[in-house]
Amino acid sequence: MIAVEIADPGRTRELRRSVLRPERSPGDPLPGDDLDDAVHLAAVVDGVVLSTCFVFPEPCPWRPADLPAWHLRQMATAAEARGRGLGGAVLDAALGVARERGGRLLWCNVREPAVEFYRRHGLRPHGEIFTDEGHRIPHLRMWAELGT
Ligand SMILES: CC(C)(COP(=O)(O)OP(=O)(O)OC[C@H]1O[C@@H](n2cnc3c(N)ncnc32)[C@H](O)[C@@H]1OP(=O)(O)O)[C@@H](O)C(=O)NCCC(=O)NCCS
Repeated sequence: MIAVEIADPGRTRELRRSVLRPERSPGDPLPGDDLDDAVHLAAVVDGVVLSTCFVFPEPCPWRPADLPAWHLRQMATAAEARGRGLGGAVLDAALGVARERGGRLLWCNVREPAVEFYRRHGLRPHGEIFTDEGHRIPHLRMWAELGT
């Protein structure tokens, strides 16, 4: 059983930076730093954060009337810890947090290599692969309805 906890953003920050924004230096700003209402999840093994993501309330761009909606960002597992179910446990916990806090829908922009990972956890695609002008990594919009 993988334990996932709600964590201070500062505790998960270096993992998020090193996996998702390695071109930035420790301490550089990261997207989401300014969010007061984000809930950060962490899978912690022997005191070390090995997988993380955060969720926060934000309307879904392609289903704006489905409120409340929650946006998931910066899903990352340490390279040496992948394929052990840690990311899946963090993603399931994030879905649970959004649901428990009244969310009807969870959405995210997924990096193409991770699409199957999200699909296995119940998210479905919206539209086609697109490439973000900012960092040029192909992404797919994905979402899930959150049952009560
Ligand atoms: C995507 C990512 C977060 C997944 O994290 P993870 O901890 O490896 O996730 P899991 O171990 O739960 O699942 C990963 C794969 O391992 C497999 N797996 C899960 N549990 C397993 C276990 N106990 N033993 C062996 N394999 C397992 C799953 O089938 C899954 O395969 P899939 O990717 O084809 O769906 C991780 O690969 C990562 O950080 N990638 C780089 C950053 C990134 O792309 N983030 C997503 C941004 S949208």
